[in-house]
Amino acid sequence: MTELPVPAVAVIVVAAGSGSRLGRDQPKAFVPLGAHSILEHALTGVFGLDEPAQVIVVAPDAQLDEARVIAAHVAGPAAGHLDVVAGGDTRQASVARGLAAVRAGVSVVLVHDAARALTPSTLIAAVVAAVRAAGHGIVPGLPVVDTIKSVTADATIRGTVDRSLLSAVQTPQGFPRAMLDAAFAWAAGLPGTDAAAQDLTDDAALVAAAGNPVTVIPGDPLAFKVTTAWDLRRAELLLGENEPTPAALPRVGTGLDVHAFDDTSALWLAGLHWPGERGLSGHSDGDAAVHAICDALLAAAGLGDIGQVFGTADPRLTDAHGEVFLAETLRLIEEAGYRVGNVTVQIIGNRPKLAPRRDEAEELLSGILHAPVSVAATTTDALGFTGRGEGIAALATAVIYPSTYRPSPKLNQ
Ligand code: CTP
Ligand code: MG
Repeated sequence: MTELPVPAVAVIVVAAGSGSRLGRDQPKAFVPLGAHSILEHALTGVFGLDEPAQVIVVAPDAQLDEARVIAAHVAGPAAGHLDVVAGGDTRQASVARGLAAVRAGVSVVLVHDAARALTPSTLIAAVVAAVRAAGHGIVPGLPVVDTIKSVTADATIRGTVDRSLLSAVQTPQGFPRAMLDAAFAWAAGLPGTDAAAQDLTDDAALVAAAGNPVTVIPGDPLAFKVTTAWDLRRAELLLGENEPTPAALPRVGTGLDVHAFDDTSALWLAGLHWPGERGLSGHSDGDAAVHAICDALLAAAGLGDIGQVFGTADPRLTDAHGEVFLAETLRLIEEAGYRVGNVTVQIIGNRPKLAPRRDEAEELLSGILHAPVSVAATTTDALGFTGRGEGIAALATAVIYPSTYRPSPKLNQ
């Protein structure tokens, strides 16, 4: 076996966060992005460096084995340069754990967020080169394009910030090893109440607080951080330019809901009040048609179901009408990067007779969802619980589109 050269560079890839803002049931770095995990994409960029580098993956305690498998797969013959260590409670603590694993012979250390999954190798190489040339800390950053306001705690605008003085910084952030070691040692020696000793969201802040210069080099839009569901969609769509993924296609969902009649309540169905008709039981207004639509939309987006999203504990939902559920469901769908194509719902029951108010129901529901909603009704030939007049069922189907979807094949290429 040939000996691997001793690396002069180490890249600490922090992947120990939980990803609370992404809101998945697994830590963010292990969430799939297209065919691979976020961590695997990030490591592909790191191992794409031309010069040999020690790669230190900082993973959650419970995912150490999974991280080892992913990292060894990407490293291939460079697996001898790989270390996987457990992270801490804060990003800063995770970086400190990674820093402790840097090997002898390394003179430049980069710290990189696994969450910046699509960071190109060229940006990583540019940071290494800039650290060597400057002899101090280097961070990639992009100009801020939005107009930035400073606001008070109650969201009143205080003023406009001069954006020419701002840079939106990314990772990897690179430092001479001795400078980064010294900054972490300095922070570790500060009292726990000192702001500089508490969790800082990047390493440049710590190195600068310790009194060292840090300069910005041009970043890369592809180095954006996957923080929310929307960022994940953006990354999927960018990958999809090379490799069409199911995430770029329309999605369908179905929903079914049943409520028993309850003579003590008023009937609300398909968003409408039906005076003189028997009401339906339920924590909210028992509108089976609206609940089935919400379930269909949530299922199409892979966001769970109405019970999981709304629960029954929220007092604001006691007797809430359909509009509340539909508006919140639409907000969640849009936040996940989708828009509604169309929805159909069929009400199954003997009463009320839908036909005279079908147009009214369709107009109301379509207006709330900003998409066509068709409402139909059927009886069950006197069979089953709906036939015996014990309650009402509703069955809905929804089609949703990624917000960037273009139905024309030419435009969608
Ligand atoms: N990170 C880490 N250890 C922590 C917290 C964060 O290694 N205790 C890592 C994350 O895995 C991520 C990077 O730091 O790659 C940037 O942090 P962020 O985007 O905030 O990720 P999370 O903390 O996981 O997400 P959230 O803040 O939404 O919970
Ligand atoms: Mg975080």
